[in-house]
Amino acid sequence: MNAPRKNISMLSVAAVVGTVVVMGYGAAFAGIKGSKHDLGTGGTSQISAGTNTGEICVFCHTPHGSDTSAAVPLWNKTLPSTNYTRYSALNTSTLDGAEAPVGSVSLACLSCHDGTQAMNVMINAPGTGAGTAPTGGKMTGAGSFPVLGSDLSNDHPISIQYAGGGLASTDGDATYTSTAFKDKDFNSVRKATINSVPQWWVDSNSDGLRQKTEMMLYTRTLSGVTQPFVECASCHDPHNAATAGAKQVAFLRTDNSNSEVCLACHNK
Ligand code: HEC
Ligand code: HEC
Ligand code: HEC
Ligand code: HEC
Repeated sequence: MNAPRKNISMLSVAAVVGTVVVMGYGAAFAGIKGSKHDLGTGGTSQISAGTNTGEICVFCHTPHGSDTSAAVPLWNKTLPSTNYTRYSALNTSTLDGAEAPVGSVSLACLSCHDGTQAMNVMINAPGTGAGTAPTGGKMTGAGSFPVLGSDLSNDHPISIQYAGGGLASTDGDATYTSTAFKDKDFNSVRKATINSVPQWWVDSNSDGLRQKTEMMLYTRTLSGVTQPFVECASCHDPHNAATAGAKQVAFLRTDNSNSEVCLACHNK
């Protein structure tokens, strides 16, 4: 799969560069404005029309006083403490990886997508001081099925070890192939130390750069080993809107035609 994937990445780079030139601003991809993650009045989500703010980022980020109980950037919502049913409860005979508690960036997504918390609940509302809270209730399933609920056994595994495990922060910075994995059916991953923190990602175009169009892995510690995990944002970039055709459907990191998203990790 390597050769075709490389070609497709090169094409997308070319397309992205073209977009920037044409649109004349720095958004290197289809942006969040006007998307389903634009919960302000200008957006297209199920609550946008009724909210009384034009702000976009505030529904998820605050520049000051964020929730730091999980490693998510400047998070403006209380992270959920829902009891989730995990994928492993399905008891498939093929699952190799161990699950960490639902955490990391997945908790940030689930702070809206498990349906327990209203979307206008935020730590720091728009405006100065306490600000004015926008309107907007809990997410509902209207239209499609954006609400995952607390039963995650019917969703792709998250907070799960990449490739069944085998990788650790004690490994040197390098590209690791299936020989290092417990589950050999996975594509190689790159490790780099950034700000003294080990980071892993599926470096699909082998350029050594950690790019948001590649499948991100999230650094977590399980059973004393700091290692890479698959989370919601491994496949999704919450800012990448569905405005550029199939390529950006469902806030995916990359084009999923020919199942490129799936084949980025799974060697099938
Ligand atoms: C619907 C929720 C949501 C909204 C709205 C949102 N973000 Fe994010 N943002 C996230 C999540 C979740 C992450 C962590 C993603 C990850 O781990 O890759 C993130 C990460 C980031 C990051 C760091 C990673 C990166 O992609 O560069 C920046 C910067 C950022 N957001 C800026 C913004 C700005 C600016 C806005 C408003 C224009 C915004 N975000 C709106 C959810 C959101
Ligand atoms: C602040 C609340 C909030 C957070 C946090 C949030 N979302 Fe959403 N998300 C929404 C809303 C609202 C919609 C639109 C639902 C609708 O109108 O059908 C949505 C829609 C989506 C969709 C469907 C897009 C489409 O085109 O149909 C995906 C995929 C998605 N979110 C993924 C994520 C992921 C992954 C994260 C974490 C990285 C995340 N969301 C975090 C509120 C949120
Ligand atoms: C392994 C990759 C992967 C992971 C991990 C993942 N998703 Fe998705 N998700 C996808 C793909 C691919 C689609 C598009 C499916 C389609 O084309 O219908 C999608 C679609 C969605 C949708 C839109 C559903 C619809 O049809 O309206 C939502 C909402 C969503 N994801 C949220 C999440 C959340 C929240 C998490 C973490 C709990 C998550 N995803 C984890 C790959 C993933
Ligand atoms: C970011 C990497 C990544 C991406 C992208 C990805 N997966 Fe996975 N997937 C995993 C990991 C890790 C597991 C757990 C494998 C294990 O431990 O046996 C998994 C497990 C699975 C399983 C099997 C679970 C079991 O019970 O054995 C299926 C089926 C699956 N993924 C399908 C998909 C599909 C379809 C897509 C595209 C929509 C996709 N995956 C995208 C990493 C990924």
